[in-house]
Amino acid sequence: MDAIVQTLLAHPWLAALTVFLCWHATRAVYLIYLSPLAIFPGSKWAALGEYWEAYWNIGTRPGQKGQTLFKLEEMHKRLGAALRMGPNEVHVYDPQFYHKLYFPNSKFYKDPSMHKVLGAPTSTLAESDPIRHKQRKAPLEPLFAKRNMQALEPMLMEHVNHCCGRFDEFYDAGKPVSMEWALKSLAMDMVSQFAFGKSLGALDDPEFKSLPVQVFKQYLPSLHIIKAFPFIRLLHKLPRWLTHRMSRSIAMGHELEQFAARRIDDFVAQKDAGKLPSFPTIMERLLIPIPEKGYIVPDKQGLRDEILTTISAGDDTTGIANMVTLYNIVRNPVIHSRLLAELKTVLPEPESHAPYPELEKLPYLTAVIKEGLRYSSPAASRTPRLVPPGGVTLPDGRYVPAGTRIGMAIYHIHYNDSIFENPRTFDPDRWLQAPEEVARLSRFMVAFSRGSRSCLGINLAYMEMYMAIGYLIRRFDFQLAGTTPADMAWDDMVVPEFHGELLVVPKRRDS
Ligand code: HEM
Repeated sequence: MDAIVQTLLAHPWLAALTVFLCWHATRAVYLIYLSPLAIFPGSKWAALGEYWEAYWNIGTRPGQKGQTLFKLEEMHKRLGAALRMGPNEVHVYDPQFYHKLYFPNSKFYKDPSMHKVLGAPTSTLAESDPIRHKQRKAPLEPLFAKRNMQALEPMLMEHVNHCCGRFDEFYDAGKPVSMEWALKSLAMDMVSQFAFGKSLGALDDPEFKSLPVQVFKQYLPSLHIIKAFPFIRLLHKLPRWLTHRMSRSIAMGHELEQFAARRIDDFVAQKDAGKLPSFPTIMERLLIPIPEKGYIVPDKQGLRDEILTTISAGDDTTGIANMVTLYNIVRNPVIHSRLLAELKTVLPEPESHAPYPELEKLPYLTAVIKEGLRYSSPAASRTPRLVPPGGVTLPDGRYVPAGTRIGMAIYHIHYNDSIFENPRTFDPDRWLQAPEEVARLSRFMVAFSRGSRSCLGINLAYMEMYMAIGYLIRRFDFQLAGTTPADMAWDDMVVPEFHGELLVVPKRRDS
């Protein structure tokens, strides 16, 4: 013993290494065997840190990254409804429990450390403090209300028409359209025009690969890496000329930030000149303080973060929901012809127009859209919350202490065969059953989450989907151009990242 002590005293680096190893060994024993969360089964690696999640989520090849979601599904089926997911995290699979976590005024708040990865801590999306969140949401909540959405219809219609015109160019040139890029561009132009009063012009890009659409497509997957290695955020502190050489994504991200900052300046200049768009915009609302609700106009960086997180929340999600829905219509002749027949009742000619409330009333289109949202689950990943003081008891009687991170994944609800029969089948008819059955299913249709932190853009997203799916299917006879189900397999890179492309030939209908 003396000899060991002498050696350590003689070699301070060895002493430091020994302390380091002993500390980690003690911590590992505590986390795996003694912590209150040790009662939950799961990978030992998950109990120790971010390694397990990083191992399954980070990679380069399709099918070898973004796999945590699927791995959890498989493990839950083997090991039960609650799993150890991290040193301080439990993951739950039981659909009934969803409504205990996510409901209005839930005390299960967002975990600030989790949302730090977004890099916009004061935005409505990332804010975890319930009071500050309410203040941030104050100008946006009424703006996104359904009654306001009607005023956006002409603007959204212009983008649908523009998108159709671009499809004609592809058809005339004999080129198939990559629908993921095209529909994300459509969603981008819709949401950015709602944000700034002027779109970012994503549909004008020759291949639908404009800077903003590319940045969000690349940025969201990088969140897995930032979560596992948070120090990567420090790269932003390095001189820009250096980070731009190191990473094209960072360079593009900065370009987008500057672009958004210029758009904010333009908006303010237009507003000062008394020139506001004819429809309500996010920018306009963000610039009006609401003292009685504690809302103070953010500084320029706060405005930029708010706008960019809102655009990012509304672009990929809606684009993916539309693409997956469209794919399932086009590859399914029975669904396709039934939908087209219904659309013809309100859109007798391919170029006809119907007011949005008429589209919304179509039962089959509604069923197709609900099924598209369930099936695509664009925000599939777990959305963790913190257990409030007093802890929580799970349905099986196990206790989870206060301060534990606890989460569930929307995908696990939507693909749970105890709720949705044959969940891997795209079946709009499930939404046309007896009212009690539809009410039961609707309780578990959680694409937009539930409660105080559910999607602010739900009404806009529905409107975009009704208009995109309704008009595109009525106007075009889409043919798949070689896309297979394997291309449509996806990895969970915060939003689904598909293994291949949905390529279609957009042929106009004559009647
Ligand atoms: C099909 C399309 C969409 C889906 C599936 C979707 C889904 C979601 C989900 C699941 C959340 C909760 C995230 C969490 O718990 O951390 C959320 C939040 C949010 N979404 Fe959406 N979303 C969609 C479209 C949109 C659109 C079009 C916008 C706006 C332009 C939008 C803006 C937001 C915002 C601002 C939040 C944060 C709300 C808050 O924390 O109070 N989303 N969305």
